[in-house]
Amino acid sequence: MKRLLLTGAAGGLGSAMRGRLKGLAEIVRVSDIVDLGSPASHEEAMICDLGDRAAVDRLVEGCDAIIHLGGISVEDKFSKIMNANLLGLYNLYEAARANGMPRILFASSNHTIGFYRQDEYLDHATPMKPDGLYGVSKCFGEALARMYHEKFGQETALVRIGSCMERPKNHRMLSTWMSYDDFLSMIECIFRVPRLGCPVIWGCSDNDTRWWDNSHVSYLGWHPRDNAERFRAEIDAAMARPEPDDAVAIYQGGPFVRDPIFAED
Ligand SMILES: NC(=O)c1ccc[n+]([C@@H]2O[C@H](COP(=O)([O-])OP(=O)(O)OC[C@H]3O[C@@H](n4cnc5c(N)ncnc54)[C@H](O)[C@@H]3O)[C@@H](O)[C@H]2O)c1
Repeated sequence: MKRLLLTGAAGGLGSAMRGRLKGLAEIVRVSDIVDLGSPASHEEAMICDLGDRAAVDRLVEGCDAIIHLGGISVEDKFSKIMNANLLGLYNLYEAARANGMPRILFASSNHTIGFYRQDEYLDHATPMKPDGLYGVSKCFGEALARMYHEKFGQETALVRIGSCMERPKNHRMLSTWMSYDDFLSMIECIFRVPRLGCPVIWGCSDNDTRWWDNSHVSYLGWHPRDNAERFRAEIDAAMARPEPDDAVAIYQGGPFVRDPIFAED
């Protein structure tokens, strides 16, 4: 690839992945609404509000591929979610359509299905059950991507990320965790496969207690190597297991199912 766009590059996941993308493209265009620090020699930095249509057009111009991590990543006021995750996504897909339809990895979320129980095993065809407005915005994103695929042929990987971080932080994440190495190998598969289509891909490592079935995307050749189970003893020692009647122990979305709808000012 000549130029890969990474949105949300100043965020938690973006900062962790930014340096790891070096070998994937000649130039990595890093973007966020906040300061991005000094670009490395293979990077170019562009500050951009995803809600600004003209700015997003300029952002996408000249890119062969997009990893879209930017946006609101937790429950928040609807106005904030609307700008970044609804309008922002529409702006991104219109810009992609006008610029040769570069393949997109869309950071969707397990919160599209957060109200399923932890004793249910889901596949890609399971109907959505979002656990808040943030989850609904990711359902919108997946629907938007699918429409652009059916109507125009735009390819997108709808990656329903579980918990992508250095290590799992609690008992729920023993099921939802995805290591940075596994995410990187997934990214490589997504941009290497000759035909991607528009599949849902569950973003978790090869955890013993995972809740999600990725067999429909075996054509990607993605084989996660990490397993959260090696952290179980550490987590057991650090905290009590949640009570069985606690929502955190019942629902796949964990604490998000308890979030309120935030009032506007
Ligand atoms: N980290 C995870 O485990 C996880 C799990 C599920 C989904 N996701 C998704 O992956 C993506 C990255 O997650 P994260 O944990 O790094 O979140 P994060 O909140 O740390 O990063 C998101 C970035 O998006 C930027 N942003 C917010 N509004 C913007 C706007 N209007 N225009 C441009 N940029 C804007 C923020 O400044 C931030 O740097 C998010 O889309 C999130 O929903 C992450």
